[in-house]
Amino acid sequence: MKYFFANWKMYHTYKEATALIDEIKNTSTNDDVTSVYFPNDLAIMYAVKQLGSPHVGAQNVAWAPAGAYTGATSAFLYREAGVSYALVGHSERRYIFGETNDAVRKKMEACIDADVVPILCIGETKEDIDDDKREYRLKKQLYTALEDLDMQGKELFVAYEPVWAVGTGEPCSPQIVAEVADWIRAQVQEEFDTHVVKILYGGSIHKDNVSSYFSTGKIDGVLVGGASTKKHSLFPLLQQING
Ligand code: PGA
Repeated sequence: MKYFFANWKMYHTYKEATALIDEIKNTSTNDDVTSVYFPNDLAIMYAVKQLGSPHVGAQNVAWAPAGAYTGATSAFLYREAGVSYALVGHSERRYIFGETNDAVRKKMEACIDADVVPILCIGETKEDIDDDKREYRLKKQLYTALEDLDMQGKELFVAYEPVWAVGTGEPCSPQIVAEVADWIRAQVQEEFDTHVVKILYGGSIHKDNVSSYFSTGKIDGVLVGGASTKKHSLFPLLQQING
């Protein structure tokens, strides 16, 4: 099974998101590919209605289940709306909105409690690379999120998204992604006793480079931002992934 996760961020108007959802609904996909779309919150229920619950995810969740949390939407509320997945700890949440590793951990727990599959996003910055701290950064993010976490039988997805590769047009090489994927797999299996982990790569993926990541045999899927948001780049990309 290959995974294609499309993070639409805040790129679309409601009209643009719903129009693209309609186009996606009318295309056929290979049974070996799981496609999940992460639209903005205003279009999310439309996506559930048109694409079906297993194909829709939230870009972020609040860690609290309910109550006096102005502006927040909990994993429970997403689940009730038919959303199946959620991105947790995306680099834009961490670095633009100041989300800490502890908040990421709480969001992992909130998703599991609400029966939403969390996609844990981790990745180092350019400064981390310059300081030779890639492993340090990834380890910190991974450990805070996963140590002693009861996945309650849920699938574990970890998306490796180097911050310097997200939205920059400067992807991480397939060879480095493969090495990091091996490292993540080993960490998860040795330290957290979780034997099945699905590894995704995200960061400047498009139709011409996507196959080079899958062909390493080390990743299970891709998390795509920019190239998934427009019909002219999305459909050729899907074609490549569907083979
Ligand atoms: P990008 O974003 O494909 O635009 O680099 C990836 C992501 O943020 O998940």
